[in-house]
Amino acid sequence: MLQDTSQALSIFSVVALHPRKATGTKYGCGIAQCGACSVHINDEVQRSCSIRVADVSPSDRIVTIEGLSSDRSHPVQKAWAALDVPQCGYCQSGQIMAAAALLKRMPKPTDKDIDEAMTNICRCGTYQRIRAAVHMAANTTSRT
Ligand code: FES
Ligand code: FES
Repeated sequence: MLQDTSQALSIFSVVALHPRKATGTKYGCGIAQCGACSVHINDEVQRSCSIRVADVSPSDRIVTIEGLSSDRSHPVQKAWAALDVPQCGYCQSGQIMAAAALLKRMPKPTDKDIDEAMTNICRCGTYQRIRAAVHMAANTTSRT
């Protein structure tokens, strides 16, 4: 008997297989540790490798890095570019999604807030530039 296994797929699998080829979301650990696969689900950052399709509903709004802005004009994306944050770049879409979600719920985070909220791993060690870019984006957002 054939079974529908699509409900057991992770959200990441669905994003990766999407016909519009959204390639920004990355796969790292597969066990919700690294954050490379981060997306927004209803404006909260979530690790898409570890959330099953069965765990979201049709009304849930899932946004990947491609959906953050149509022209890379989101304040976080602009700050990332201005401060040249990425090194190899692999973790960075996840970092940006985590930062955008943080700023949405906390417009002026402290260094401690950033360190506590952004647990994404960067093997290139760009953490100081990430933190600086979050502050830059926060200042930009607060002026607009
Ligand atoms: S790939 Fe999802 S958290 Fe690492
Ligand atoms: S920039 Fe290389 S892993 Fe973060």
